[in-house]
Amino acid sequence: MKEEYNPIQFKDHKLILLDQRVLPLEEVFHSLETLEQAHWAIKEMIVRGAPCIGFTAIFGMALWLKNHQNFTTAELNQAGDYLKSARPTAVNLNFEVDRVIAMVQDLTNQEAYEKVVSFGHLQISKSETENRAMAKTAYAELEERLGKKKYNILTHCNTGFLACGSIGTALGVVQHLHENDQLELAWVDETRPYLQGSRLTAYELVKLGAPHKVVVEGAASYLMKTGQVDAIFTGADRIVANGDTANKVGTSNLSILAKHYNIPFYIVAPSSSFDLSIQSGEKIEIELRDENEILSYKNNRIAPIESTAFNPSFDITDGQLITGIINEKGIAQGNYLESLPRIVHAD
Ligand code: MRU
Repeated sequence: MKEEYNPIQFKDHKLILLDQRVLPLEEVFHSLETLEQAHWAIKEMIVRGAPCIGFTAIFGMALWLKNHQNFTTAELNQAGDYLKSARPTAVNLNFEVDRVIAMVQDLTNQEAYEKVVSFGHLQISKSETENRAMAKTAYAELEERLGKKKYNILTHCNTGFLACGSIGTALGVVQHLHENDQLELAWVDETRPYLQGSRLTAYELVKLGAPHKVVVEGAASYLMKTGQVDAIFTGADRIVANGDTANKVGTSNLSILAKHYNIPFYIVAPSSSFDLSIQSGEKIEIELRDENEILSYKNNRIAPIESTAFNPSFDITDGQLITGIINEKGIAQGNYLESLPRIVHAD
């Protein structure tokens, strides 16, 4: 990946984020110096996608440490709670804030700042290896289930380098297939209302030179019924103990269709997206976003002025509809209450 496309960098004591709201037509970067700005960037979806939200959380806490001399534990926790409140569904945000808090408790301010910055860089570089491992697991699973051939893959939302800072999770699978000449076509759901599919995933696939077509989400049933989808891969914002998975709204619809048409449906996500402390999906908080994201496009009203909208940003896919859940350590299948701990806690 060329540096200019990198969605998240930390250099010269600043957090540099690529503004994902204006891609692909513009490539605009923001330079952030405070925790409040990191909160704003997550909430406004300048940075988005569960792993990149997690990395921003680490660097956001680093910025707070840089700006606060002689902090107390209470102040540190308060800063963490504030950052966590930016978006509720992706568990990576909480996970990374808690890891930072645990690691800096007994350090001086300067030591803590430097340690957290190095930790952030390490997590981004580790994600490259982890995403490659997930892609290989997915590839082996596809070969075993469907035989060696070129695959037509349907994906939803954006799970590539813009969401993950490296090759990506579900889109990492697509990239891996493409690199091995095993990708026939990637079907890219446009993903209303933020258009992560048509704006971001398509942008990434263009950069990769991978064959793809953008489709409206309502086309999924037609594509599956007419045999044009071999498998579905999506990412996750939170996977809980029974396999129920929060991901971009519309993911659950795909899993139901996949069951009907007997098409394998996979979730691909790093361990930081798993929350085995929650037993089932009803306990996951679903983010409700501003109705204007649906009613208007680029500040132009598209719905009648009298209409209101309901904008849940995520949905919950039932664990029992998921063929397999893949992380950097392997694949879980069948009874997730038993198989998920094996891949989350493996060495
Ligand atoms: O609202 P977003 O764009 O942050 O939602 C992103 C998704 O739902 C992704 O599929 C998920 O975070 C996985 S990213 C690898």
